[in-house]
Amino acid sequence: MTIRAVVRGVGHYLPARVVPNAEFEASLDTSDEWIRTRSGIERRHFAAEGETTSDLGAAAARAALDDAGLGAADIDAIIVATSTPDLTFPSVATMIQAKIGLTTGFAFDVQAVCAGFVFALANANALILAGQARRVMVIGAETFSRILDFTDRSTCVLFGDGAGALILEAAGGEGTAADRGILSADLNSDGSHLDLLYVDGGVSTSGTAGHLRMQGNQVFRHAIEKLAETAHTALDKAGLSAADVDWIVPHQANLRIIEGTARRMQVPMERVVVTVQDHGNTSAASIPLALSVGKARGQVSEGDIVVTEAIGGGLAWGAVVLRW
Ligand code: ACO
Repeated sequence: MTIRAVVRGVGHYLPARVVPNAEFEASLDTSDEWIRTRSGIERRHFAAEGETTSDLGAAAARAALDDAGLGAADIDAIIVATSTPDLTFPSVATMIQAKIGLTTGFAFDVQAVCAGFVFALANANALILAGQARRVMVIGAETFSRILDFTDRSTCVLFGDGAGALILEAAGGEGTAADRGILSADLNSDGSHLDLLYVDGGVSTSGTAGHLRMQGNQVFRHAIEKLAETAHTALDKAGLSAADVDWIVPHQANLRIIEGTARRMQVPMERVVVTVQDHGNTSAASIPLALSVGKARGQVSEGDIVVTEAIGGGLAWGAVVLRW
């Protein structure tokens, strides 16, 4: 018998404040039309003053527990993917652990920017396969609004805040692609591309949180090629091909990247979960948000082959293939 990390529950949380594109027209030389046509984004949510990444993550965690019919005490480990922690330390994961009333097990953060959720999923899978944990809560939670330069029209219109959570549980499988659960993962990074996407502050440099800086068109050039390649590699590892894919649930950065990657993978857009129009780019939160929204829409259901793929600062990129 093979151990598999199977999805037991999913949930998400979006802050109440919705910011439509038009709101940026008052302070910047931009337009709703430019933002829609270049990115596909129509609106995003911004956290309220005092509302932190761990608040968003804890709300998503509670929603996932409800969906799974579990209590906090049923969780052995929490992994949070984030680049916008409440504090430099402790981890957002330990803060969420406390907020949902859990004092046992272990919790830690993973930092791979927009690819963070894919990296966290692969780590959770490895913990379950190694017998270190039976149930792992994997959360992507971000408050990117706090690191945006609202005078830079080329970045501030693209990002949003939110959180999503997935509960993985150890279950027996046959070791074939017919099993439910995570079937394969492919992770990559190339640190020589730091200048394409980074935050210009930090603990050991400026001593401040800094602001996001991005050469968007350069990231774009890397994105479609690397995303299609990592998705194909992960499918190969699982013994599957693009024809087996029921849903691509991609990182939601830009509709043109999502469409370009699907085209390159030869998967029709009818089989892609798209939420970027409503959420903007929520970095590590975008995939679990899309999984939760996709399930609620009736798009992702039990037995479906799901491919998640993401690229972000580092550059760091990867894909996970799972049977829902
Ligand atoms: N409104 C109006 N004009 C704008 C705006 C704006 N908000 N922003 C930029 N422009 C202008 C630029 O100044 C430029 O003008 P110029 O030609 O006079 O110089 C023009 O629009 C075109 O700019 P580009 O950057 O070439 O536009 P592009 O078509 O590449 O779209 C975008 C920009 C949306 C950023 C796109 O490149 C993109 O999505 N890149 C990838 C982002 C991404 O995936 N990031 C990774 C994840 S994020 C993470 O890891 C944190």
